[in-house]
Amino acid sequence: RGKRAFIAGVADDNGYGWAIAKSLAAAGAEILVGTWVPALNIFENSLRRGKFDESRALPDGSLMEITKVYPLDAVYDSPEDVPEDVKTNKRYSGSSNWTVKEVAESVKQDFGSIDILVHSLANGPEVSKSLLETSRNGYLAAISASSYSFVSLLKHFVPIMNPGGATISLTYIASERIIPGYGGGMSSAKAALESDTKVLAFEAGRKHKIRVNTISAGPLRSRAAKAIGFIDMMIDYSMANAPLQKELSAEEVGDTAAFLASPLASAITGAVVYVDNGLNAMGVGV
Ligand code: NAI
Repeated sequence: RGKRAFIAGVADDNGYGWAIAKSLAAAGAEILVGTWVPALNIFENSLRRGKFDESRALPDGSLMEITKVYPLDAVYDSPEDVPEDVKTNKRYSGSSNWTVKEVAESVKQDFGSIDILVHSLANGPEVSKSLLETSRNGYLAAISASSYSFVSLLKHFVPIMNPGGATISLTYIASERIIPGYGGGMSSAKAALESDTKVLAFEAGRKHKIRVNTISAGPLRSRAAKAIGFIDMMIDYSMANAPLQKELSAEEVGDTAAFLASPLASAITGAVVYVDNGLNAMGVGV
């Protein structure tokens, strides 16, 4: 039987989540995605209207099929956690069962189990503020959406994952080196995510034979990255200074995720894997 993957954080065809879905689909996996509730309508309409057909094309000429799109807000673990104003918000009230616990239950009901879990989401409401200017709420919101969301996904999905399964998240070098502009506690959130990758690799490995890795990706002009505001500069910097002087494509990250999710990587867990044209290895730019 082919493997089944759930990819959280796909809402258009520009980001890493989409590219990972494509690489997994090309390798024969069945694709389920979790889409942020406020982005759900546009994404589903665009899918239905064929807006993504060109970018759904796989190397063999077929089109990637997304078996099911689940609404998801990874900031909420169960219905009791959802505040009244969110519940009644127009963009949320049209969908149901989108807390992490409910999505895992729905996937279990629909398909029984999964083999691959991908976390490709982040949010930091104060990302454009320096860390010194970040409020407590902004910092905690960044950690909640970008780091705890991974803990929560694992907590709820690992019980429906087949032994030997793999989980992958996306991180950024700003966790360990100073990247001015990656503010709002987002650098802190990525540091937490990388540390958690190790602890969760131990816990999920011992208990369920599940692997946990994270990809430290170079800059990509995604919707989220454009919102931060310095993405073009980061791409230019990488082109000028990385060992490999080429633009990074989302497919290169997608293919690494497919490798990490496959039996080829059966001894790799708790790792931060750099897919950044080698930029992380530089000490000074030349
Ligand atoms: P993206 O915009 O394609 O993906 C981010 C997704 O997160 C969006 O689909 C958004 O709807 C979703 N999201 C935000 N809050 C959510 C919530 N509460 N619940 C569920 N979904 C939520 O952008 P990108 O850049 O592909 O981001 C994917 C991952 O890659 C993120 O973890 C990001 O930090 C990471 N990354 C991105 C880099 C870049 O240069 N684009 C570099 C290194 C890492």
